[in-house]
Amino acid sequence: MELVIASNNKHKVREISEILAGKFDRIYSLSELNIHVDPEETAPDFLGNAMIKAEAVAVFTDKAVIADDSGLEVDALGGAPGVFSARYGGEPCSDDRNNEKLLREMSGVQDRKARFVTTMVLRFPGGKTLVGVGDVKGEILLEKRGKNGFGYDPLFYSYELKKTFGEASEEEKNSVSHRSRALQELLTKL
Ligand code: IMP
Repeated sequence: MELVIASNNKHKVREISEILAGKFDRIYSLSELNIHVDPEETAPDFLGNAMIKAEAVAVFTDKAVIADDSGLEVDALGGAPGVFSARYGGEPCSDDRNNEKLLREMSGVQDRKARFVTTMVLRFPGGKTLVGVGDVKGEILLEKRGKNGFGYDPLFYSYELKKTFGEASEEEKNSVSHRSRALQELLTKL
């Protein structure tokens, strides 16, 4: 089976390609197929937004499509930024602004527990879908650590890795990440 990754985020595409390496006949990014779509994520939950992304790309290809919607849920913020993770600091989206806002909202907060979550949708030609979900637990640090990854990675201290995702190598992050766990669940169902 050939697969298209429905994301314009280069980091996500790399992570997903690495994790799925060898499991599909060929994996394409959107740019390799000249597909230019950036649908509005208007659903109230991760599953709805992952479906929107998968359907938007499926219009342009007869290959299977994989799409994820992910975010950071912070206990002390009642699960925020959640589905609004990408645009938490306002639009246009910026990782720096998102991280700055998160640090502001968490200033003076003792309980810093958080988790990354992913809902992953695999859409087959014809419209049948499989869904996988994954999460990874950790804490929001008081300042950024490390330059790897993207998004909130430098502020997210992983309990399992004992370092931030910003300090982790790609391989280390992929060994515990919400995205790889969602993909594993999906592959099990496949
Ligand atoms: P999405 O592209 O709509 O799924 O938005 C996800 C947003 O959540 C991104 O813009 C990041 O801010 C954040 N996010 C999702 N996954 C990760 C991750 O693995 N590391 C850091 N931030 C992430």
